[in-house]
Amino acid sequence: MPNNPNINLSTVITWLFYLVPIYIFLISPALRILSPSNEHQRQDAANPIFDWSAFDDADYDLLVSGLNVTDDSFISPEDNDLDKLNCREDDYRVHIFSYKPLIIYVENFFRDAEADYLVAVSGGKWSPSIISDGTSVRVDPSVRRSDRALLDRDNVVRCAEERARSFQGWRPWLYIERMWTQRYNASGHYRHHYDWRGSAAQRGGDRLSTFMVYLDANCTGGGTNFPRLRMPRKSQWCRFIECDDAHRDVYEGVTFKPIKGNAVFWENLRPDGTGYPETWHAALPVLSGRKVGLNIWSWYQPPVRRV
Ligand SMILES: *[C@@H]1O[C@H](CO)[C@@H](O)[C@H](O)[C@H]1NC(C)=O
Ligand SMILES: *[C@@H]1O[C@H](CO)[C@@H](O)[C@H](O)[C@H]1NC(C)=O
Ligand SMILES: *[C@@H]1O[C@H](CO)[C@@H](O)[C@H](O)[C@H]1NC(C)=O
Repeated sequence: MPNNPNINLSTVITWLFYLVPIYIFLISPALRILSPSNEHQRQDAANPIFDWSAFDDADYDLLVSGLNVTDDSFISPEDNDLDKLNCREDDYRVHIFSYKPLIIYVENFFRDAEADYLVAVSGGKWSPSIISDGTSVRVDPSVRRSDRALLDRDNVVRCAEERARSFQGWRPWLYIERMWTQRYNASGHYRHHYDWRGSAAQRGGDRLSTFMVYLDANCTGGGTNFPRLRMPRKSQWCRFIECDDAHRDVYEGVTFKPIKGNAVFWENLRPDGTGYPETWHAALPVLSGRKVGLNIWSWYQPPVRRV
């Protein structure tokens, strides 16, 4: 083209003058409609393991899952008899804190009597909390200082399992992990961490969501801090969140106050199975008194096709 004496610079500029808008306003949108290539749609397609819509119940016996869903050492099998359990009506109140990741504040998720009961049945079962890096398990009070107790699946716990399932819309392939209470004395804490591993594709499952329930909060300190979340603008949130400057001078982001019976629910994983960095959180040190928390983790593991 530069060798063609008939096409001079002004002709090229005139062509560009027409072609550039044609590309921007007509060709590019048309291409996008024909081949959607949104970042997350691409990621989802690359991780079909999380595309549960690809399966229906009829396929189920043709599929294998990495999780033994009848082994109750890790998960709570879906063996609750709702008629016999006769769980009370839910009467909690919810406030959406964030849409992405989904974070919901739940008032009155547990009644005082249920909370007191779960603390009481944990007595005598406490053992030091452990940390795990996927390959090894150890006690390290500099990272995590608390005691934990594995709850028996009695009727109160089974009703809590059903509450957690129903809250999440009875989502398929979602399994409630066995529940542990966590006791934090003065100086008890858990440094910033994720509840997810980001290994959904390799292990075929991961922790989709977390309920952090406060069962006993007769303490100062001990909030749940998310340094990567933004403070909400409205002062109504100060009922549930540390708003005072002295706290905010020390801790970044958002700190939920421990309030007995209330819970913070959040989703750990994007639809493609990768973890949300915003869910980085810590149990801040208890300064005085005692806090008892209950983690309700939902393990998400759709079946994988037998090869
Ligand atoms: C799953 O767990 C149950 C209960 O512990 C056990 O009886 C069964 O053999 C396990 N199945 C597999 C495939 O490991
Ligand atoms: C918490 O206090 C109890 C009772 O005083 C004690 O037995 C337990 O070891 C303490 N746990 C931690 C992690 O400090
Ligand atoms: C809360 O803690 C204080 C001081 O640690 C104690 O005096 C009080 O009895 C506790 N209240 C309840 C309801 O346990």
